[in-house]
Amino acid sequence: MKDLLHTADLSREDVELLLATASDFAAKPLSASTALANKTVAIYMTKPSTRTRLSSETAVAHLGGTPIFIRGDELQLGRGETIADTAKIISGYCDALIIRTFAQSEVDELGMHASIPVINALTDDDHPTQLLADWLTIRETFGKDIAGRKFVYLGDGNNMANAWLVMGAIMGAHVVTATPEGKWAPNRKYVDMAQQIAKKSGATIEVIHNADEAARGASVLYTDVWMSMGDSEFDRKEKVAALSPFSVTDSLMAATEKDSIFMHCLPAHRGEEVSASVIDGPRSVIWREAYHRRTTIQALLYHLSRGELAGSK
Ligand code: CP
Ligand code: NVA
Repeated sequence: MKDLLHTADLSREDVELLLATASDFAAKPLSASTALANKTVAIYMTKPSTRTRLSSETAVAHLGGTPIFIRGDELQLGRGETIADTAKIISGYCDALIIRTFAQSEVDELGMHASIPVINALTDDDHPTQLLADWLTIRETFGKDIAGRKFVYLGDGNNMANAWLVMGAIMGAHVVTATPEGKWAPNRKYVDMAQQIAKKSGATIEVIHNADEAARGASVLYTDVWMSMGDSEFDRKEKVAALSPFSVTDSLMAATEKDSIFMHCLPAHRGEEVSASVIDGPRSVIWREAYHRRTTIQALLYHLSRGELAGSK
């Protein structure tokens, strides 16, 4: 496996290796401080980022490498240079490329033409590095035996919902998305993908449209912003009305298991997708989850650069 372009690129074995290494990096951030010595990692983002950018730059530094951050408007790509040419040029200077942008196809094309590892740091469709941090947090909370546990995502059927289903499928989990029906439901392509993976992994995939039913007996309630980067402001009113029943409130949390946790990829909007009392309350694991963005990206760079991930194909 050269790249991490989609969550579905990862095999269960890859995820286990990455979680184990990330755990080590959580305890000892500098335990592989020469792994990327004299190497550079380009981080190209056409959308804003707090966590992914800072955790990626820090991860590269902790591995002894140099991150080179490039904003969306800074490459000749914006002036008509092709993706293929850009990929070849970056491959000549750098040792990996981390990219955040709108279209998944752009990331796929970069992966195809670059000779160096390309890592998807969020597209409109997917967010694989976030899911690694999420599953490390889940592992730390519940351990390896997740039989009988239900992992629920509530809200917009966006990139996070797609990735939640696919990663849950890889992990053999019982994963649920509860979203409005219709245009804010998860992308059919990703639901099908999760169901395909589940056939082999033994996962249970539920795509439903009722928040109370989803929360009943859940071990995790996860949510994300209602308006993602790039979403049309034109839709806001209609979308907020459709998503309101999926807001994670204290009464929704009360329907979950006694040891349940609340998760959020962040940034969050208190009073919209989650109540302040939930996200800032005792069941919330958001700070540990955010911390693991660094440990998991560090593990990913470490193993991808050494060619140690097998991939799912
Ligand atoms: N969760 C996440 O990807 O955060 P940023 O948008 O701040 O990178
Ligand atoms: N769905 C959100 C996730 C942010 C980390 C977005 O794409 O803006």
